[in-house]
Amino acid sequence: MTESLGGWRRSHTCGELRPQHVGQTVTLMGWAFRRRDHGGLIFVDLRDRNGLTQCVFNPATAPVAHARAQEVRSEFVLAVVGAVQHRPPGTENPKLPTGEVEVQVSEVKILSESKPLPFPLEEEVEVDEAVRLKYRYLDLRRPAVYRNFVIRDQVCRAVRDYLHAHGFLEVETPFLTRSTPEGARDFLVPSRLTRGSFYALPQSPQLFKQLLMVAGVERYFQIVRCFRDEDLRRDRQPEFTQIDIETSFLDRDEFLPIIEGMLAEVFKRVRGIEIPTPFPRLTYEEAIARFGSDKPDLRVGLELADCSDVFRAAEFQAFAQVVTAGGVVKGLRSPGGGGMSRKELDELVEMAKSFGAKGLVWAKVTPDGVQSPAARFLEPLRPALLSRLGAGPGDLLLLVADQMPLAATVLGRLRQELAQRLSLIPPDQFRMVWVIDFPLVEWSEEERRWNAVHHPFTAPRDEDLSLLDTDPGRARAKAYDLVINGQEAAGGSLRIHQLSVQEKLFKLLGIAPQEARARFGFLLEALEFGAPPMGGIAVGLDRLVALLAGEESIREVIAFPKTQKGTCPLTEAPAPVDPGQLKDLGIRLAEEP
Ligand code: AMO
Repeated sequence: MTESLGGWRRSHTCGELRPQHVGQTVTLMGWAFRRRDHGGLIFVDLRDRNGLTQCVFNPATAPVAHARAQEVRSEFVLAVVGAVQHRPPGTENPKLPTGEVEVQVSEVKILSESKPLPFPLEEEVEVDEAVRLKYRYLDLRRPAVYRNFVIRDQVCRAVRDYLHAHGFLEVETPFLTRSTPEGARDFLVPSRLTRGSFYALPQSPQLFKQLLMVAGVERYFQIVRCFRDEDLRRDRQPEFTQIDIETSFLDRDEFLPIIEGMLAEVFKRVRGIEIPTPFPRLTYEEAIARFGSDKPDLRVGLELADCSDVFRAAEFQAFAQVVTAGGVVKGLRSPGGGGMSRKELDELVEMAKSFGAKGLVWAKVTPDGVQSPAARFLEPLRPALLSRLGAGPGDLLLLVADQMPLAATVLGRLRQELAQRLSLIPPDQFRMVWVIDFPLVEWSEEERRWNAVHHPFTAPRDEDLSLLDTDPGRARAKAYDLVINGQEAAGGSLRIHQLSVQEKLFKLLGIAPQEARARFGFLLEALEFGAPPMGGIAVGLDRLVALLAGEESIREVIAFPKTQKGTCPLTEAPAPVDPGQLKDLGIRLAEEP
Protein backbone atom coordinates (compact mmCIF):
# COMPACT_ATOMS: atom_id res chain seq x y z
CA MET A 1 0.00 0.00 0.00
CA THR A 2 1.36 3.41 -0.92
CA GLU A 3 0.45 6.75 0.55
CA SER A 4 0.33 10.34 -0.62
CA LEU A 5 2.39 13.17 0.77
CA GLY A 6 -0.53 14.27 2.94
CA GLY A 7 0.98 17.61 3.78
CA TRP A 8 4.47 16.35 4.64
CA ARG A 9 7.23 18.70 3.56
CA ARG A 10 10.86 17.88 3.01
CA SER A 11 13.02 19.76 5.51
CA HIS A 12 16.44 18.69 4.27
CA THR A 13 18.03 16.82 1.37
CA CYS A 14 19.64 13.42 1.85
CA GLY A 15 23.09 14.96 1.43
CA GLU A 16 22.78 17.68 3.99
CA LEU A 17 22.78 16.38 7.54
CA ARG A 18 25.88 16.86 9.69
CA PRO A 19 26.68 16.64 13.43
CA GLN A 20 25.39 20.19 13.85
CA HIS A 21 21.86 18.90 13.03
CA VAL A 22 21.89 16.38 15.88
CA GLY A 23 18.75 16.73 17.98
CA GLN A 24 16.63 18.24 15.18
CA THR A 25 13.56 16.49 13.81
CA VAL A 26 13.78 16.32 10.03
CA THR A 27 11.70 15.13 7.09
CA LEU A 28 13.59 13.46 4.22
CA MET A 29 12.29 12.08 0.95
CA GLY A 30 14.01 9.88 -1.53
CA TRP A 31 14.68 6.36 -2.79
CA ALA A 32 15.58 3.36 -0.64
CA PHE A 33 19.05 2.64 -1.98
CA ARG A 34 19.95 -0.22 0.36
CA ARG A 35 18.04 -1.92 3.13
CA ARG A 36 19.71 -4.04 5.80
CA ASP A 37 17.61 -5.97 8.27
CA HIS A 38 19.62 -6.73 11.37
CA GLY A 39 16.86 -8.77 13.01
CA GLY A 40 16.08 -5.96 15.41
CA LEU A 41 17.07 -2.72 13.70
CA ILE A 42 16.41 -2.05 10.03
CA PHE A 43 18.74 0.34 8.20
CA VAL A 44 17.68 2.07 5.01
CA ASP A 45 20.10 4.29 3.07
CA LEU A 46 17.80 6.95 1.70
CA ARG A 47 19.05 8.55 -1.51
CA ASP A 48 18.12 11.70 -3.39
CA ARG A 49 20.18 13.59 -5.96
CA ASN A 50 22.19 15.24 -3.19
CA GLY A 51 23.38 12.17 -1.37
CA LEU A 52 22.62 9.34 1.05
CA THR A 53 21.42 9.40 4.63
CA GLN A 54 21.26 6.36 6.88
CA CYS A 55 17.79 5.94 8.40
CA VAL A 56 17.32 3.62 11.37
CA PHE A 57 14.02 1.88 12.18
CA ASN A 58 13.87 0.69 15.76
CA PRO A 59 11.06 -1.77 16.71
CA ALA A 60 11.27 -0.70 20.36
CA THR A 61 10.73 3.04 19.83
CA ALA A 62 8.71 3.11 16.57
CA PRO A 63 7.03 -0.27 16.02
CA VAL A 64 4.66 0.95 13.27
CA ALA A 65 7.44 2.53 11.22
CA HIS A 66 9.59 -0.57 11.75
CA ALA A 67 6.82 -2.82 10.47
CA ARG A 68 6.43 -0.62 7.39
CA ALA A 69 10.19 -0.71 6.80
CA GLN A 70 10.01 -4.49 6.51
CA GLU A 71 8.01 -4.03 3.29
CA VAL A 72 10.58 -1.66 1.79
CA ARG A 73 12.56 -2.93 -1.18
CA SER A 74 15.23 -1.32 -3.37
CA GLU A 75 14.13 1.91 -5.01
CA PHE A 76 10.86 2.27 -3.13
CA VAL A 77 10.15 5.98 -2.70
CA LEU A 78 9.90 6.96 0.96
CA ALA A 79 9.23 9.93 3.18
CA VAL A 80 10.60 9.68 6.70
CA VAL A 81 10.32 11.84 9.79
CA GLY A 82 12.86 11.36 12.54
CA ALA A 83 15.47 12.78 14.86
CA VAL A 84 19.06 13.30 13.76
CA GLN A 85 21.53 11.52 16.04
CA HIS A 86 25.23 10.72 16.12
CA ARG A 87 26.07 7.28 14.77
CA PRO A 88 27.34 5.03 17.55
CA PRO A 89 31.13 5.40 17.93
CA GLY A 90 33.00 3.15 15.50
CA THR A 91 30.12 2.97 12.99
CA GLU A 92 30.74 6.33 11.31
CA ASN A 93 31.32 6.21 7.55
CA PRO A 94 34.08 8.67 6.61
CA LYS A 95 33.44 8.09 2.88
CA LEU A 96 29.96 9.64 3.15
CA PRO A 97 29.49 13.39 3.77
CA THR A 98 26.55 12.47 6.03
CA GLY A 99 28.52 9.57 7.52
CA GLU A 100 28.71 10.88 11.09
CA VAL A 101 24.95 10.99 11.63
CA GLU A 102 21.77 8.98 11.08
CA VAL A 103 18.05 9.60 11.34
CA GLN A 104 16.15 7.68 14.01
CA VAL A 105 12.85 7.28 12.14
CA SER A 106 9.60 7.86 13.99
CA GLU A 107 7.21 7.85 11.03
CA VAL A 108 7.50 6.62 7.45
CA LYS A 109 5.36 6.75 4.33
CA ILE A 110 5.89 4.51 1.33
CA LEU A 111 5.09 6.95 -1.48
CA SER A 112 5.75 4.53 -4.32
CA GLU A 113 6.92 0.96 -4.83
CA SER A 114 9.42 -0.35 -7.36
CA LYS A 115 9.72 -3.56 -9.32
CA PRO A 116 13.10 -5.29 -9.00
CA LEU A 117 15.54 -3.27 -11.11
CA PRO A 118 16.97 -4.57 -14.41
CA PHE A 119 20.44 -3.70 -13.10
CA PRO A 120 21.88 -2.68 -9.73
CA LEU A 121 22.58 1.01 -9.25
CA GLU A 122 25.87 0.46 -7.45
CA GLU A 123 28.61 2.39 -9.24
CA GLU A 124 31.04 -0.49 -9.33
CA VAL A 125 28.73 -2.65 -11.43
CA GLU A 126 29.40 -2.54 -15.20
CA VAL A 127 26.15 -2.58 -17.13
CA ASP A 128 25.71 -3.09 -20.86
CA GLU A 129 25.12 0.26 -22.58
CA ALA A 130 22.03 -0.90 -24.45
CA VAL A 131 20.37 -1.81 -21.15
CA ARG A 132 21.50 1.42 -19.55
CA LEU A 133 19.97 3.44 -22.37
CA LYS A 134 16.71 1.47 -22.39
CA TYR A 135 16.30 2.29 -18.69
CA ARG A 136 18.08 5.62 -18.85
CA TYR A 137 15.85 7.06 -16.12
CA LEU A 138 17.24 4.41 -13.77
CA ASP A 139 20.77 4.83 -15.06
CA LEU A 140 20.52 8.57 -14.34
CA ARG A 141 19.82 7.76 -10.70
CA ARG A 142 23.42 6.56 -10.42
CA PRO A 143 25.37 9.40 -8.82
CA ALA A 144 28.31 9.16 -11.25
CA VAL A 145 25.94 9.46 -14.22
CA TYR A 146 23.91 12.26 -12.65
CA ARG A 147 27.12 14.14 -11.84
CA ASN A 148 27.77 14.66 -15.56
CA PHE A 149 24.52 16.59 -15.87
CA VAL A 150 25.45 18.81 -12.97
CA ILE A 151 28.67 19.59 -14.84
CA ARG A 152 26.71 20.21 -18.03
CA ASP A 153 24.40 22.60 -16.22
CA GLN A 154 27.36 24.43 -14.66
CA VAL A 155 29.01 24.78 -18.06
CA CYS A 156 25.87 26.26 -19.61
CA ARG A 157 25.43 28.65 -16.72
CA ALA A 158 29.06 29.81 -16.85
CA VAL A 159 28.77 30.31 -20.62
CA ARG A 160 25.58 32.32 -20.34
CA ASP A 161 26.95 34.49 -17.51
CA TYR A 162 30.17 35.17 -19.38
CA LEU A 163 28.54 35.95 -22.71
CA HIS A 164 25.89 38.17 -21.16
CA ALA A 165 28.63 40.05 -19.33
CA HIS A 166 30.28 40.58 -22.72
CA GLY A 167 27.24 42.04 -24.44
CA PHE A 168 25.93 38.93 -26.19
CA LEU A 169 22.23 38.44 -26.80
CA GLU A 170 20.71 34.95 -26.77
CA VAL A 171 18.45 34.55 -29.79
CA GLU A 172 16.65 31.41 -30.92
CA THR A 173 16.58 30.34 -34.55
CA PRO A 174 14.22 27.92 -36.30
CA PHE A 175 14.44 24.14 -36.32
CA LEU A 176 12.01 23.76 -39.18
CA THR A 177 14.01 25.37 -41.93
CA ARG A 178 16.01 24.74 -45.09
CA SER A 179 19.19 22.81 -45.59
CA THR A 180 22.36 24.41 -44.13
CA PRO A 181 25.55 23.30 -45.80
CA GLU A 182 27.75 21.88 -43.02
CA GLY A 183 28.71 18.85 -45.07
CA ALA A 184 26.46 16.19 -43.56
CA ARG A 185 23.14 14.75 -44.73
CA ASP A 186 19.98 16.57 -43.64
CA PHE A 187 17.17 15.20 -41.55
CA LEU A 188 13.99 16.05 -43.42
CA VAL A 189 10.53 16.80 -42.07
CA PRO A 190 7.65 16.55 -44.53
CA SER A 191 5.21 19.44 -44.64
CA ARG A 192 1.51 18.63 -44.32
CA LEU A 193 0.35 22.07 -45.41
CA THR A 194 2.61 22.24 -48.44
CA ARG A 195 2.47 18.69 -49.65
CA GLY A 196 5.55 17.40 -51.41
CA SER A 197 7.74 19.97 -49.63
CA PHE A 198 10.10 19.35 -46.76
CA TYR A 199 11.73 21.26 -43.98
CA ALA A 200 15.31 20.36 -43.17
CA LEU A 201 16.43 20.32 -39.56
CA PRO A 202 19.40 22.71 -39.27
CA GLN A 203 22.91 21.21 -39.28
CA SER A 204 23.78 24.47 -37.50
CA PRO A 205 22.23 27.95 -37.24
CA GLN A 206 24.96 29.20 -39.59
CA LEU A 207 22.78 31.10 -42.06
CA PHE A 208 20.47 32.53 -39.42
CA LYS A 209 23.30 33.86 -37.31
CA GLN A 210 24.70 35.64 -40.34
CA LEU A 211 21.25 37.11 -40.97
CA LEU A 212 21.18 38.25 -37.34
CA MET A 213 24.40 40.14 -38.00
CA VAL A 214 22.82 41.82 -41.03
CA ALA A 215 19.94 42.58 -38.66
CA GLY A 216 22.32 44.49 -36.39
CA VAL A 217 22.36 42.13 -33.41
CA GLU A 218 26.18 42.51 -33.31
CA ARG A 219 26.79 39.85 -30.65
CA TYR A 220 24.64 36.73 -30.77
CA PHE A 221 24.81 33.43 -28.99
CA GLN A 222 22.61 30.40 -28.58
CA ILE A 223 23.03 27.06 -26.84
CA VAL A 224 21.38 25.17 -29.61
CA ARG A 225 20.61 21.71 -30.91
CA CYS A 226 22.02 20.82 -34.33
CA PHE A 227 21.01 17.85 -36.47
CA ARG A 228 23.27 15.92 -38.79
CA ASP A 229 22.55 12.61 -40.43
CA GLU A 230 26.10 11.24 -40.40
CA ASP A 231 27.88 8.07 -39.41
CA LEU A 232 28.12 8.04 -35.66
CA ARG A 233 31.14 7.61 -33.44
CA ARG A 234 32.05 8.11 -29.81
CA ASP A 235 32.22 11.86 -30.31
CA ARG A 236 29.32 12.25 -32.73
CA GLN A 237 25.57 12.19 -32.28
CA PRO A 238 22.83 12.85 -34.84
CA GLU A 239 21.54 15.61 -32.58
CA PHE A 240 24.11 17.47 -30.56
CA THR A 241 24.46 20.86 -28.96
CA GLN A 242 26.56 23.83 -29.94
CA ILE A 243 27.44 27.00 -28.10
CA ASP A 244 26.87 29.00 -31.25
CA ILE A 245 28.34 32.50 -31.45
CA GLU A 246 28.51 35.29 -34.02
CA THR A 247 29.84 38.84 -33.84
CA SER A 248 30.10 41.90 -36.06
CA PHE A 249 32.96 44.35 -36.57
CA LEU A 250 35.64 42.18 -34.93
CA ASP A 251 38.68 40.81 -36.64
CA ARG A 252 40.08 37.44 -35.69
CA ASP A 253 42.56 38.71 -33.16
CA GLU A 254 39.88 40.63 -31.34
CA PHE A 255 37.42 37.76 -31.47
CA LEU A 256 39.48 34.75 -30.40
CA PRO A 257 40.41 36.22 -26.99
CA ILE A 258 36.69 36.49 -26.18
CA ILE A 259 36.34 32.76 -26.71
CA GLU A 260 39.53 32.06 -24.76
CA GLY A 261 38.11 34.07 -21.87
CA MET A 262 34.86 32.12 -22.03
CA LEU A 263 36.63 28.76 -21.87
CA ALA A 264 38.98 29.90 -19.13
CA GLU A 265 35.93 30.99 -17.12
CA VAL A 266 34.21 27.63 -17.72
CA PHE A 267 37.26 25.59 -16.64
CA LYS A 268 37.73 27.76 -13.58
CA ARG A 269 34.13 27.69 -12.44
CA VAL A 270 33.42 24.07 -13.20
CA ARG A 271 36.73 22.40 -12.36
CA GLY A 272 38.71 25.07 -10.53
CA ILE A 273 41.40 24.80 -13.21
CA GLU A 274 43.29 27.88 -14.42
CA ILE A 275 43.80 27.70 -18.18
CA PRO A 276 46.50 30.11 -19.30
CA THR A 277 45.50 32.57 -22.02
CA PRO A 278 46.17 33.42 -24.78
CA PHE A 279 46.00 29.89 -26.18
CA PRO A 280 48.88 28.93 -28.45
CA ARG A 281 48.23 29.05 -32.18
CA LEU A 282 49.48 26.85 -34.97
CA THR A 283 48.87 27.36 -38.65
CA TYR A 284 47.33 24.37 -40.36
CA GLU A 285 50.58 23.85 -42.23
CA GLU A 286 52.64 23.87 -39.02
CA ALA A 287 50.21 21.54 -37.28
CA ILE A 288 50.55 18.99 -40.07
CA ALA A 289 54.32 19.38 -40.34
CA ARG A 290 55.03 19.15 -36.60
CA PHE A 291 52.26 16.88 -35.34
CA GLY A 292 50.89 15.19 -38.45
CA SER A 293 47.38 16.30 -37.58
CA ASP A 294 45.08 19.30 -37.73
CA LYS A 295 43.92 18.21 -34.27
CA PRO A 296 47.24 17.90 -32.46
CA ASP A 297 47.20 16.62 -28.92
CA LEU A 298 49.70 18.90 -27.22
CA ARG A 299 49.71 16.81 -24.06
CA VAL A 300 51.99 14.49 -25.98
CA GLY A 301 55.48 15.97 -26.10
CA LEU A 302 56.58 14.27 -29.34
CA GLU A 303 57.10 16.13 -32.61
CA LEU A 304 57.76 14.97 -36.13
CA ALA A 305 60.98 16.07 -37.79
CA ASP A 306 61.71 16.48 -41.47
CA CYS A 307 64.59 14.21 -42.43
CA SER A 308 64.33 14.65 -46.20
CA ASP A 309 67.77 16.25 -46.57
CA VAL A 310 69.40 13.41 -44.63
CA PHE A 311 68.11 10.93 -47.20
CA ARG A 312 68.26 13.00 -50.39
CA ALA A 313 71.66 11.75 -51.50
CA ALA A 314 71.71 8.59 -49.42
CA GLU A 315 72.24 5.06 -50.68
CA PHE A 316 68.80 4.13 -49.35
CA GLN A 317 67.12 4.26 -52.76
CA ALA A 318 63.57 3.66 -51.53
CA PHE A 319 63.75 6.91 -49.52
CA ALA A 320 66.08 8.96 -51.74
CA GLN A 321 63.76 8.48 -54.72
CA VAL A 322 60.76 9.75 -52.81
CA VAL A 323 62.68 12.90 -51.91
CA THR A 324 63.91 13.53 -55.44
CA ALA A 325 60.35 13.06 -56.67
CA GLY A 326 59.22 15.95 -54.43
CA GLY A 327 58.19 13.89 -51.42
CA VAL A 328 59.53 13.99 -47.89
CA VAL A 329 60.94 11.71 -45.22
CA LYS A 330 59.29 12.34 -41.89
CA GLY A 331 60.70 10.95 -38.68
CA LEU A 332 59.40 10.48 -35.16
CA ARG A 333 61.36 9.64 -32.05
CA SER A 334 59.65 7.50 -29.49
CA PRO A 335 61.43 7.93 -26.18
CA GLY A 336 62.06 4.59 -24.53
CA GLY A 337 60.36 2.82 -27.45
CA GLY A 338 63.51 0.77 -28.00
CA GLY A 339 62.12 -1.88 -25.69
CA MET A 340 59.29 -2.82 -28.07
CA SER A 341 59.06 -6.42 -29.21
CA ARG A 342 59.26 -7.51 -32.81
CA LYS A 343 55.55 -8.30 -32.72
CA GLU A 344 54.69 -4.79 -31.51
CA LEU A 345 56.84 -3.26 -34.23
CA ASP A 346 55.21 -5.44 -36.88
CA GLU A 347 51.86 -4.15 -35.64
CA LEU A 348 53.05 -0.55 -36.05
CA VAL A 349 54.13 -1.32 -39.61
CA GLU A 350 50.73 -2.84 -40.42
CA MET A 351 49.03 0.13 -38.83
CA ALA A 352 51.07 2.58 -40.92
CA LYS A 353 50.04 0.67 -44.04
CA SER A 354 46.40 0.75 -43.03
CA PHE A 355 46.74 4.56 -42.70
CA GLY A 356 47.89 4.69 -46.32
CA ALA A 357 51.70 4.54 -46.07
CA LYS A 358 53.62 2.29 -48.42
CA GLY A 359 55.74 1.24 -45.48
CA LEU A 360 57.28 2.19 -42.18
CA VAL A 361 60.95 1.94 -41.34
CA TRP A 362 61.77 1.50 -37.68
CA ALA A 363 65.12 1.64 -35.96
CA LYS A 364 66.06 0.96 -32.37
CA VAL A 365 68.91 3.09 -31.10
CA THR A 366 71.43 1.13 -29.03
CA PRO A 367 74.76 2.27 -27.55
CA ASP A 368 76.54 0.49 -30.42
CA GLY A 369 74.44 1.52 -33.40
CA VAL A 370 70.96 1.03 -34.81
CA GLN A 371 68.94 -2.15 -34.96
CA SER A 372 66.60 -2.06 -37.93
CA PRO A 373 65.60 -4.04 -41.00
CA ALA A 374 67.27 -1.16 -42.89
CA ALA A 375 70.29 -0.95 -40.55
CA ARG A 376 72.75 -1.28 -43.43
CA PHE A 377 71.45 1.98 -44.97
CA LEU A 378 70.72 3.82 -41.74
CA GLU A 379 74.05 3.18 -40.00
CA PRO A 380 76.03 5.70 -42.11
CA LEU A 381 73.29 8.30 -41.52
CA ARG A 382 73.12 7.62 -37.80
CA PRO A 383 74.76 10.82 -36.45
CA ALA A 384 72.67 13.05 -38.73
CA LEU A 385 69.46 11.17 -37.92
CA LEU A 386 70.03 11.13 -34.17
CA SER A 387 70.76 14.81 -34.07
CA ARG A 388 67.75 15.66 -36.28
CA LEU A 389 65.39 13.63 -34.10
CA GLY A 390 67.10 14.43 -30.81
CA ALA A 391 67.38 10.69 -30.19
CA GLY A 392 69.69 8.56 -28.07
CA PRO A 393 70.11 4.99 -26.83
CA GLY A 394 66.87 3.32 -25.77
CA ASP A 395 64.76 5.30 -28.26
CA LEU A 396 62.82 3.99 -31.21
CA LEU A 397 62.82 5.90 -34.50
CA LEU A 398 60.00 5.70 -37.01
CA LEU A 399 60.43 6.91 -40.57
CA VAL A 400 57.92 7.32 -43.38
CA ALA A 401 58.77 8.47 -46.89
CA ASP A 402 55.91 9.76 -49.00
CA GLN A 403 54.23 12.83 -50.37
CA MET A 404 52.95 15.49 -47.97
CA PRO A 405 50.66 15.49 -46.15
CA LEU A 406 50.44 11.67 -46.16
CA ALA A 407 53.92 11.07 -44.68
CA ALA A 408 53.11 13.41 -41.82
CA THR A 409 49.57 12.25 -41.12
CA VAL A 410 50.62 8.59 -40.96
CA LEU A 411 53.28 9.44 -38.38
CA GLY A 412 50.82 11.74 -36.64
CA ARG A 413 48.50 8.80 -36.06
CA LEU A 414 51.39 6.62 -34.90
CA ARG A 415 52.39 9.44 -32.54
CA GLN A 416 49.00 9.18 -30.89
CA GLU A 417 49.20 5.38 -30.82
CA LEU A 418 52.64 5.45 -29.16
CA ALA A 419 51.44 8.01 -26.65
CA GLN A 420 48.73 5.56 -25.60
CA ARG A 421 50.96 2.49 -25.57
CA LEU A 422 53.84 4.13 -23.74
CA SER A 423 51.52 6.08 -21.38
CA LEU A 424 52.91 9.43 -22.49
CA ILE A 425 49.63 11.30 -21.85
CA PRO A 426 49.61 13.05 -18.48
CA PRO A 427 46.26 12.64 -16.70
CA ASP A 428 43.89 15.52 -15.98
CA GLN A 429 45.66 18.03 -18.17
CA PHE A 430 43.94 20.31 -20.66
CA ARG A 431 45.96 21.61 -23.59
CA MET A 432 44.24 24.02 -25.89
CA VAL A 433 45.53 25.13 -29.27
CA TRP A 434 44.06 27.19 -32.08
CA VAL A 435 44.67 25.80 -35.53
CA ILE A 436 44.39 28.72 -37.95
CA ASP A 437 44.79 29.42 -41.66
CA PHE A 438 43.09 26.27 -42.89
CA PRO A 439 42.97 25.76 -46.64
CA LEU A 440 39.82 27.34 -48.05
CA VAL A 441 38.95 24.49 -50.38
CA GLU A 442 40.06 20.93 -50.99
CA TRP A 443 39.94 18.91 -54.18
CA SER A 444 37.71 15.86 -54.17
CA GLU A 445 39.12 13.28 -56.55
CA GLU A 446 35.89 11.29 -56.29
CA GLU A 447 33.54 14.15 -57.17
CA ARG A 448 36.13 15.88 -59.42
CA ARG A 449 35.49 19.26 -57.84
CA TRP A 450 36.52 21.68 -55.10
CA ASN A 451 34.75 21.46 -51.75
CA ALA A 452 34.77 24.02 -48.96
CA VAL A 453 36.93 22.86 -46.05
CA HIS A 454 34.72 24.67 -43.50
CA HIS A 455 31.54 25.90 -45.18
CA PRO A 456 31.02 28.01 -48.28
CA PHE A 457 30.55 31.27 -46.31
CA THR A 458 34.08 31.23 -44.90
CA ALA A 459 36.18 34.17 -46.06
CA PRO A 460 39.49 33.64 -47.84
CA ARG A 461 42.47 35.52 -46.45
CA ASP A 462 42.67 38.90 -48.20
CA GLU A 463 46.14 38.21 -49.58
CA ASP A 464 44.99 34.86 -51.01
CA LEU A 465 41.92 36.17 -52.83
CA SER A 466 43.65 36.16 -56.21
CA LEU A 467 44.62 32.51 -55.72
CA LEU A 468 40.95 31.62 -56.17
CA ASP A 469 41.51 32.16 -59.91
CA THR A 470 45.01 30.73 -60.20
CA ASP A 471 45.69 28.08 -57.55
CA PRO A 472 42.65 27.57 -55.30
CA GLY A 473 44.21 24.70 -53.35
CA ARG A 474 46.79 27.13 -51.93
CA ALA A 475 44.27 29.74 -50.79
CA ARG A 476 43.97 29.92 -47.03
CA ALA A 477 40.76 30.69 -45.17
CA LYS A 478 40.08 33.01 -42.26
CA ALA A 479 39.06 29.91 -40.36
CA TYR A 480 40.07 28.54 -36.99
CA ASP A 481 39.48 25.39 -34.98
CA LEU A 482 39.97 25.08 -31.29
CA VAL A 483 41.59 21.78 -30.39
CA ILE A 484 41.58 20.54 -26.81
CA ASN A 485 43.63 17.43 -26.02
CA GLY A 486 43.55 16.35 -29.65
CA GLN A 487 39.80 16.82 -30.09
CA GLU A 488 38.11 19.41 -32.27
CA ALA A 489 36.18 21.30 -29.63
CA ALA A 490 35.13 24.27 -31.77
CA GLY A 491 35.28 25.58 -35.29
CA GLY A 492 34.55 28.91 -36.88
CA SER A 493 35.63 31.60 -39.27
CA LEU A 494 35.25 35.14 -40.44
CA ARG A 495 32.54 35.20 -43.08
CA ILE A 496 32.28 36.58 -46.53
CA HIS A 497 30.21 39.75 -46.23
CA GLN A 498 30.69 40.95 -49.79
CA LEU A 499 28.38 39.52 -52.39
CA SER A 500 31.02 39.61 -55.14
CA VAL A 501 33.38 37.40 -53.11
CA GLN A 502 30.56 35.04 -52.17
CA GLU A 503 29.60 34.64 -55.80
CA LYS A 504 33.21 33.99 -56.77
CA LEU A 505 33.46 31.23 -54.18
CA PHE A 506 30.20 29.61 -55.26
CA LYS A 507 31.56 29.57 -58.79
CA LEU A 508 34.75 27.83 -57.62
CA LEU A 509 32.70 25.28 -55.67
CA GLY A 510 30.69 24.55 -58.81
CA ILE A 511 27.50 25.98 -57.34
CA ALA A 512 25.78 27.57 -60.32
CA PRO A 513 24.17 31.00 -59.80
CA GLN A 514 20.64 29.57 -60.17
CA GLU A 515 21.48 26.84 -57.65
CA ALA A 516 23.00 29.36 -55.23
CA ARG A 517 19.88 31.52 -55.56
CA ALA A 518 17.64 28.51 -55.02
CA ARG A 519 19.51 27.25 -51.96
CA PHE A 520 20.74 30.40 -50.21
CA GLY A 521 19.02 33.21 -52.15
CA PHE A 522 17.78 34.71 -48.89
CA LEU A 523 21.33 35.03 -47.56
CA LEU A 524 22.70 36.45 -50.81
CA GLU A 525 19.92 39.00 -50.89
CA ALA A 526 20.64 39.97 -47.29
CA LEU A 527 24.27 40.61 -48.23
CA GLU A 528 22.94 43.31 -50.59
CA PHE A 529 21.39 45.31 -47.73
CA GLY A 530 24.42 46.45 -45.74
CA ALA A 531 26.09 43.39 -44.22
CA PRO A 532 28.70 44.18 -41.56
CA PRO A 533 31.99 42.29 -41.41
CA MET A 534 31.20 39.26 -39.27
CA GLY A 535 32.65 36.13 -37.83
CA GLY A 536 31.92 33.52 -35.24
CA ILE A 537 32.42 30.07 -33.91
CA ALA A 538 30.54 27.06 -32.61
CA VAL A 539 31.79 25.11 -29.63
CA GLY A 540 30.68 21.48 -29.41
CA LEU A 541 29.02 21.57 -25.99
CA ASP A 542 28.78 17.80 -25.64
CA ARG A 543 32.49 17.39 -26.35
CA LEU A 544 33.41 20.18 -23.95
CA VAL A 545 31.34 18.68 -21.15
CA ALA A 546 32.73 15.19 -21.83
CA LEU A 547 36.26 16.61 -21.52
CA LEU A 548 35.44 18.35 -18.25
CA ALA A 549 33.72 15.25 -16.90
CA GLY A 550 36.59 13.00 -17.97
CA GLU A 551 34.28 10.90 -20.16
CA GLU A 552 35.42 9.19 -23.37
CA SER A 553 32.04 9.28 -25.06
CA ILE A 554 29.67 12.21 -25.48
CA ARG A 555 26.80 9.76 -24.86
CA GLU A 556 27.73 9.97 -21.16
CA VAL A 557 26.87 13.66 -21.07
CA ILE A 558 23.64 13.57 -23.10
CA ALA A 559 20.55 12.73 -21.05
CA PHE A 560 18.87 10.61 -23.72
CA PRO A 561 21.49 9.83 -26.37
CA LYS A 562 21.17 7.71 -29.48
CA THR A 563 23.09 4.50 -30.07
CA GLN A 564 25.78 4.16 -32.76
CA LYS A 565 22.97 3.15 -35.11
CA GLY A 566 21.02 6.34 -34.41
CA THR A 567 18.32 4.59 -32.44
CA CYS A 568 16.90 5.33 -29.00
CA PRO A 569 16.51 2.10 -27.00
CA LEU A 570 14.19 3.86 -24.57
CA THR A 571 11.55 5.20 -26.95
CA GLU A 572 12.47 2.87 -29.80
CA ALA A 573 12.72 5.81 -32.16
CA PRO A 574 12.87 5.87 -35.11
CA ALA A 575 9.66 3.94 -35.59
CA PRO A 576 7.12 3.29 -38.35
CA VAL A 577 4.19 5.69 -38.35
CA ASP A 578 0.49 5.31 -38.73
CA PRO A 579 -0.58 4.99 -42.40
CA GLY A 580 -3.05 7.84 -41.78
CA GLN A 581 -0.20 10.18 -40.89
CA LEU A 582 1.58 9.32 -44.12
CA LYS A 583 -1.61 9.88 -46.06
CA ASP A 584 -2.02 13.36 -44.53
CA LEU A 585 1.50 14.14 -45.68
CA GLY A 586 0.90 12.76 -49.16
CA ILE A 587 3.66 10.19 -48.70
CA ARG A 588 3.68 6.58 -49.90
CA LEU A 589 6.53 4.25 -48.98
CA ALA A 590 8.36 2.83 -51.97
CA GLU A 591 9.42 -0.22 -49.98
CA GLU A 592 7.58 -1.86 -47.16
CA PRO A 593 9.89 -1.94 -44.12
P1 AMO B 1 31.34 22.70 -37.15
O1 AMO B 1 30.65 21.87 -38.16
O2 AMO B 1 32.84 22.68 -37.10
O3 AMO B 1 31.01 24.25 -37.35
O4 AMO B 1 30.77 22.34 -35.73
C1 AMO B 1 31.23 22.99 -34.55
C2 AMO B 1 31.54 22.00 -33.47
O5 AMO B 1 30.42 21.18 -33.19
C3 AMO B 1 30.86 19.90 -32.75
N1 AMO B 1 30.21 18.86 -33.60
C4 AMO B 1 29.62 17.75 -33.11
N2 AMO B 1 29.47 17.28 -31.86
C5 AMO B 1 28.80 16.13 -31.68
N3 AMO B 1 28.25 15.42 -32.68
C6 AMO B 1 28.37 15.83 -33.97
N4 AMO B 1 27.78 15.12 -34.95
C7 AMO B 1 29.08 17.04 -34.23
N5 AMO B 1 29.39 17.75 -35.34
C8 AMO B 1 30.07 18.84 -34.93
C9 AMO B 1 32.36 19.88 -32.86
C10 AMO B 1 32.64 21.02 -33.82
O6 AMO B 1 33.90 21.58 -33.59
N6 AMO B 1 28.43 26.64 -38.34
C11 AMO B 1 29.79 26.23 -38.03
C12 AMO B 1 30.43 27.08 -36.97
C13 AMO B 1 30.86 28.44 -37.45
O7 AMO B 1 31.45 28.53 -38.55
O8 AMO B 1 30.64 29.41 -36.70
C14 AMO B 1 29.75 24.77 -37.54
O9 AMO B 1 28.73 24.20 -37.28
O10 AMO B 1 32.93 20.14 -31.59
